[in-house]
Amino acid sequence: MASQPPAARGRFITFEGGEGSGKSTQARLLAERLKHAGIDTVLTREPGGSPFAEQVREFILGQKHAAHAALAEALLFYAARADHLEATIRPALTAGKWLIADRFSDSTRAYQGAAGGAHAAAIETIDRVVVAGTVPDLTLILDLPPEEGLRRAADRRPAGAASDPFESRDVAFHKRLRAGFQAIAAAEPQRCAVIEASGPAAPIAAQIWRTIEVRLLAQRGL
Ligand SMILES: Nc1ncnc2c1ncn2[C@@H]1O[C@H](COP(=O)(O)OP(=O)(O)OP(=O)(O)O)[C@@H](O)[C@H]1O
Ligand SMILES: [Mg+2]
Repeated sequence: MASQPPAARGRFITFEGGEGSGKSTQARLLAERLKHAGIDTVLTREPGGSPFAEQVREFILGQKHAAHAALAEALLFYAARADHLEATIRPALTAGKWLIADRFSDSTRAYQGAAGGAHAAAIETIDRVVVAGTVPDLTLILDLPPEEGLRRAADRRPAGAASDPFESRDVAFHKRLRAGFQAIAAAEPQRCAVIEASGPAAPIAAQIWRTIEVRLLAQRGL
């Protein structure tokens, strides 16, 4: 019996960037466009993306003690990520699907590392254990002045609702965060593309689609 060629692994795309930079909006638009192009696509998010990881998300976003170690927070994100990878991401990629994650490891590097002060080397060690070979094929980093992103996030909130524990950190934190994402993009230009995220959503989506065409679809001969 002739052996079957191994099924093509899907593609793993992540959206990264600061608060209100448009990740969830653009991730949704990209998922719709890929589905329209006939590509079996799964849209997921972090923290979360599997039943257990969604429970960890509730704990992280409901944190009541502002003063806590950035490394402790990073470990919670990696606990959620380990399950997200096992339950959702790897099965989808093995089945040949394209998986879009709204945030992934770079958010931990930027929030708990660059902005929060956890040692980069510690985060990388944990990342190698948890993520192992499941590194994104493409990471879209949405870049926006933090004041603009925070304004968008505040406008989105229902009247009287409190900001989440990350939105409510000071502007200096959000500036370190932006610099952290920019440094990741500079260090890994093969994996990352920086997308200028100010202005209306439609032209940003068009730029993201061009990036997908050049970096991923051309490789598949689509
Ligand atoms: N290009 C844009 N211009 C103006 N507003 C936008 C744009 N893209 C998204 N928004 C709006 O800004 C708010 C934040 O967008 P979105 O939720 O997509 O950002 P996010 O990066 O996922 O935020 P968070 O970091 O809080 O998850 C939403 O109300 C959204 O409708
Ligand atoms: Mg979002």
